[in-house]
Amino acid sequence: MLNIAIDGPAGAGKSTIAKAVSKKLGIVYLDTGAMYRGAAYAALKRGLDVNDASQIEPFLSGLEMSIECGDVQQIIVNGENVTPFIREHKISKAASDISKLPAVRLKLVELQREIAGRTACVLDGRDIGSYVLPDAEYKFFVTASPEERANRRFKELREKGSDLTYEEILADIKDRDYNDSHRAFAPLVQVADARLIDTTALTVDEAVGAVLRIIEGEK
Ligand code: DC
Repeated sequence: MLNIAIDGPAGAGKSTIAKAVSKKLGIVYLDTGAMYRGAAYAALKRGLDVNDASQIEPFLSGLEMSIECGDVQQIIVNGENVTPFIREHKISKAASDISKLPAVRLKLVELQREIAGRTACVLDGRDIGSYVLPDAEYKFFVTASPEERANRRFKELREKGSDLTYEEILADIKDRDYNDSHRAFAPLVQVADARLIDTTALTVDEAVGAVLRIIEGEK
């Protein structure tokens, strides 16, 4: 099965690139971050502490998650479509926190491997090339400077009416980078066989083109 892994820090452009590449190749896009966000949202809704394994582990045994891939991927958690709620600002940090717990990762990675095993797809995340699918046919590590990522997020959130400042967003991005790359189990890391795409000075089209040239050049 054709699997393309796109890993990298928050706000580097992974999902934009992954969506465009999946469309161009006519395969599915799987946003694995949305799965951690869905789990975090459901845990917070139950009033649980996303940093506390003793609260999250029992919650996981009753957690049913299903994914409907499509133009806008839908995440259904325990029968509720949580898609509209998982992009809220507070869910970003909660997803990063809950994703540190090995039991959470094991459960969601199982679902990711199951989908990738039966569907040609582009997956974006933090540990796809290093842990979820170490044999993925293509691996990319997409990054950009923290300042550029904060700048993009700032503009995006502004358009949605958020009043967070650039400084607050930059601090959150740095905090999440630290959290995601310093956890003990399957941290964010650039593996040796991943191609580096630094989007700091690239337009979306240039970044997508760089990825497609590598894939099409090697077909
Ligand atoms: O890509 P994102 O911002 O939607 O991801 C939210 C959080 O989920 C991220 O900060 C860390 C976690 N995550 C992860 O640990 N592993 C993945 N494969 C994807 C996301």
